[in-house]
Amino acid sequence: MDQVRIFDTTLRDGEQSPGISLDVGEKLEIAEQLARLGVDVIEAGFPIASQGDFDAVEAIAKTVQGPVIAGLSRTGFKDVDRAWEAVRHSARPRIHVFIATSPIHMQKKLRMTEDQVKAEVAAGVARAAGYTTDVEYSPEDGSRSDVDFMCDVLQIAVDNGATTLNIPDTVGYGVPEEYAKLIAHICATVTGDYVVSTHCHDDLGLAVANSLAGVAAGARQVECAINGLGERAGNAALEEVVMAIRTRSDYFGGVGVNVKTEELARTSRLVSRLTGYSVQHNKAVVGRNAFAHESGIHQHGVLEDRETYEIIDANAVGQTAAQIVLGKHSGRHAFSDTLEKMGLRLQGDALNQAFVRFKELADRKVEITEADLEAIVAEELGAGAVHRYEIVSLDVHGGTTTTPTAKVVLSDGTERVEAEASGNGMVDAACSAIAAATGITGTVLDFRVASVTGGRDALGDVVIQLEADGRKASGRGVSTDIVEASARAYLNAVNKLVRSRDQEPRERTVGP
Ligand code: KIV
Ligand code: ZN
Repeated sequence: MDQVRIFDTTLRDGEQSPGISLDVGEKLEIAEQLARLGVDVIEAGFPIASQGDFDAVEAIAKTVQGPVIAGLSRTGFKDVDRAWEAVRHSARPRIHVFIATSPIHMQKKLRMTEDQVKAEVAAGVARAAGYTTDVEYSPEDGSRSDVDFMCDVLQIAVDNGATTLNIPDTVGYGVPEEYAKLIAHICATVTGDYVVSTHCHDDLGLAVANSLAGVAAGARQVECAINGLGERAGNAALEEVVMAIRTRSDYFGGVGVNVKTEELARTSRLVSRLTGYSVQHNKAVVGRNAFAHESGIHQHGVLEDRETYEIIDANAVGQTAAQIVLGKHSGRHAFSDTLEKMGLRLQGDALNQAFVRFKELADRKVEITEADLEAIVAEELGAGAVHRYEIVSLDVHGGTTTTPTAKVVLSDGTERVEAEASGNGMVDAACSAIAAATGITGTVLDFRVASVTGGRDALGDVVIQLEADGRKASGRGVSTDIVEASARAYLNAVNKLVRSRDQEPRERTVGP
C-alpha cells in the first residue's frame, strides 16, 4: 500500500509554542511514546539553538529505536555540523536543512538575493548529504514564495542530495485548493528521486485541511504535531491528519499510515501533561467529548448501531473509558507491573516517588484508573528531572469567615525551608507561601483546573503558567485536593524557572 509518512515535530515546532519548556527527560519520555505510536520521523529539536536542545536530540538519537530521528539546521556549516553531531547516534539519522525563499523573508530577514539563497541551499544541503543519505530541505515561507524561483531552489536541493522536499506554509496563509496546486506543480516540475512533504500552520484554522489537500495532490510525508502544538496557532494536529487518512483512505486513493492509532489518546494526554497545554473537550479524535453523545436521539441511534453517529471507533484511538487498574491493597510489584504494561518506564527515585504518591492516593481514592496513574507518573517524571524543591508538608486554613492562610515546608535536597502566607483564597495563600519560601515571586499568567476522571474523589489536575524575570514556565500538579494540586503545580513551575535561571545566559540563541 502507498504510505504517507508521519513526521512528528512536537519536540521541535511544538516546543516553540509560548510557555512550553521541556527538559531532556520530558523530551525523551515523549519521544519514546512517539516511537510506540509508530510515527515514521521524530524531529527531535534544533541542535544549534541551545545546549539543552542539542542534549535532547543527542539523547533521543542514542536511545529511541524505530523512527528516523531528525535534527533541524539552517544552511550554515556550523549548523549542519552541529545537527549531524546530535543525530549521528541514531540508526536512522536525518538532517533537515531550511532557508526561506519568500521575497519578504529574503529581503527583510536574511538580507540575501535570490542567487545568494540558491548558493546557500546548494552548499548547506551538500554538506548535510556528506554526512547522511537522508536529507530534507524546506524553503521556509514556501507558500508566499515565487513558485518558479522556489522550484529552481528545490531542484538545486535535489541535485545536491536532498531526498525530501518539505513545503512549509510557515504563516498559515495557504488555502487547500491553492496549496494542493502548489504541491502538484512541484511534483510535476522538480525532477529526481524525492518525497514531497507538507508543513502547515494553523493561523487560519486550515492546517489539517491544507495538509490533506497536499496528500491528495501527491505529498507522501505530513509534518504535524500532537494536539496541534506549534508556533502561534500551531501545526497540523497529528491525530486529526492520521485519522482523516485512515478513515477516508477511499478518498485519498487508498494511501495508508503506519501509526498505531490505539496509542493516540495516551500520546495526547502525555503531551498535554508535560507541556501544560490542555486539550479542549470537543477536540477531534482526542478530546474527552469526541465520543460523547448528549442528545437522546443520538444515544438511541448509537445503542442500536454505533455507526449511526460515529465514524471512528473510540477503541481504535485509545479513547476507552478509563478502567480500574489498582486499589488500596495493590503492592509495589503490581504497581510497577501495571506501569510497564501501560508502556510507562520509571526507574530508581522516580519509581519510588511515584509509588509513594500512588499509596497516598490510594488512601483517598478507592479506584485508581489508568488515567490517574498516567497523571501521577507524568508529574513525577516532570518533577524528577528538574526538581530543586519538594513539598515536605502543606497546611492550609480557610473558609468564608476567616482569612485564608498557608504554611509550607519545602526540602531543597539538603535543607528545609519554610514560610507562611495569607491570600485571597486557600490556593493563593499556598502559592504565596511557596513564593516566600523559594524567593521566586512570579506572575500567574494562566491557572486551569480539570478533573482526571469523574466522581467526587477524582484527581484534580492543575496547570499553572508562571512568569518571573522575563521567563515563563508551566507546571502541573495532581491531587484529590485541588489546593494541594495547585501548590504542586506552582512548585513545579518554580522548579522549572529555577533551572532556567541557573542555566544563564538564556539558552535559546537562535530560532527558525
Ligand atoms: O514553519 C516553518 O517554516 C518551519 C520550518 C523550519 C520547516 O517550521
Ligand atoms: Zn513550522
